[in-house]
Amino acid sequence: MLNAKLPADIGTITFTEMTLHHLEAVHILETDLFPADAWPLEMFLAELQHPTRGYIAAFDRDLLVGYAGVMSIAETADVQTIAVRPTYEGRGIGRAMLDFLHREAAARGAETILLEVRADNPRAQDLYTKNGYAHIHTRPGYYNDGVDALIMQAPLTAHPTTESE
Ligand SMILES: CC(C)(COP(=O)(O)OP(=O)(O)OC[C@H]1O[C@@H](n2cnc3c(N)ncnc32)[C@H](O)[C@@H]1OP(=O)(O)O)[C@@H](O)C(=O)NCCC(=O)NCCS
Repeated sequence: MLNAKLPADIGTITFTEMTLHHLEAVHILETDLFPADAWPLEMFLAELQHPTRGYIAAFDRDLLVGYAGVMSIAETADVQTIAVRPTYEGRGIGRAMLDFLHREAAARGAETILLEVRADNPRAQDLYTKNGYAHIHTRPGYYNDGVDALIMQAPLTAHPTTESE
């Protein structure tokens, strides 16, 4: 169950808690977006069943256009995943979902949030930097295709997005 308020609609885009009914569509989009590192369906299933996780999905009417999830345990949270359908990029869906993950993690008591991002994904890094993240560590060759992972971290207590709750 989610603790924070869902993001406001963006035009015809609406946000909802991710459920088992969404998983097939989520998995298809995941496989398109992360050809080297896509999570198997079973992983999403396990994530949704875990009480420390909070997942949302974004829809344009019936079409899944994005999804995101957070793990929050004690004072530290992790962005588990965040993705937007390519034809829907640049409309603020990613930012709205990231803001939600921050509010959800803060509502569950987290003070810091971490994530991993591919070193060859400047667009996602830009989103994170603009939302308070700093690069704190690099894991060489972390991804299946040998690309490094950048570990980024943001404080939740001092983050402006937590103030709207
Ligand atoms: C990264 C991702 C989630 C961003 O989602 P999005 O909905 O396009 O992002 P938004 O429209 O909210 O834009 C947020 C920021 O992304 C960046 N961005 C958005 N559109 C961009 C574009 N066309 N070119 C470059 N950067 C862009 C900007 O930094 C933007 O900030 P600003 O609009 O405040 O200046 C999305 O591109 C995506 O799903 N990519 C593929 C999967 C992925 O890489 N996921 C992250 C794994 S760690």
